[in-house]
Amino acid sequence: MRRKITVVGAGFVGSTLVQRLAERDYADVVMFDIVPNMPQGKALDILESGPVLGFDTQVTGTNDYADTVGSDIVVITSGFPRKPGMTRDDLVKKNQEIVSQVTEQVVKYSPECIIIVVTNPLDAMAQIALKVSGFPRERVLGMAGVLDTARFRTFIAQEVGASVRDVQAYVLGGHGDTMVPLARMCTVAGVPIEQLISPERIEEIVQRTRDGGAEIVKLLGTGSAYFAPSASVLQMIDSIMLDKKMIMPCAISLQGEYGIHNLFVGVPAQLGANGLEKVIEIELDAHEREQLNKSVDAVRELVGVMGI
Ligand code: APR
Repeated sequence: MRRKITVVGAGFVGSTLVQRLAERDYADVVMFDIVPNMPQGKALDILESGPVLGFDTQVTGTNDYADTVGSDIVVITSGFPRKPGMTRDDLVKKNQEIVSQVTEQVVKYSPECIIIVVTNPLDAMAQIALKVSGFPRERVLGMAGVLDTARFRTFIAQEVGASVRDVQAYVLGGHGDTMVPLARMCTVAGVPIEQLISPERIEEIVQRTRDGGAEIVKLLGTGSAYFAPSASVLQMIDSIMLDKKMIMPCAISLQGEYGIHNLFVGVPAQLGANGLEKVIEIELDAHEREQLNKSVDAVRELVGVMGI
């Protein structure tokens, strides 16, 4: 029997992810949304690209959680973007409600699944999903770090004129203005970027990475990024589905690692068939530690808004 992946939220991120998953051809895919008929329409459209692209993935759209039964992985992308006049705290509360309801239903039908949270504010929403699901932390992951790191790698590759494949980088901390791109550990084919790029330019690239989401929002006019976010979720799913044990930055509920307890923070994590297989602890210098602490404070503040 083929394995099964559910994507909740058939918006930009959700539907783009479903298309990418269909092309992978390693699991059937269910796309859920509350809007009547819309996920069914998008799913059928993606399914009909199968003969052209050569995949046999069954893609189903639904408004009924019963169709998600027995999923191996469930990705939560449902939520509202920030609207004009809405504070960040308003958004947290609104999406907290949505992610709580969704998680309850998901767990009811797929008690053994691995949940990947994408809805923003990411670290806070992952915290909700962990609490409501009652799952062990190995099975509730947040997607942010792969995306932030991809942005960082894009800019470094452009700067030095190298292939993105040769650029290795890590971004730690919360998904927001306080994220910590680890420039010290960034290399191009093993050569530290500090030998290739001036400190001033590195700082500019780090800042552009921090503002990466906002840069896209500004250009789009409405909505937020979805091509790179969906590709980033796909990389996490690849490592889980194929048990590749790849190491990539993910939001993980830390239990003492980096001196942090019971809070979702972006750290390098090894992903495999069991979800989180291992948290990788990198030794940080004083400056990085200070930046990480700031980032952790920002995540705690957001979580505080939710009253959990
Ligand atoms: N259950 C299921 N789906 C829901 C619910 C709910 N309770 N509430 C809203 N949705 C759906 C909407 O109907 C919409 O189709 O979630 C979808 C969100 O899609 P978009 O508005 O297109 O947002 P998108 O760009 O996909 O971003 C989704 O990912 O990167 C983050 O910040 C982004 O939090 C946002 C999320």
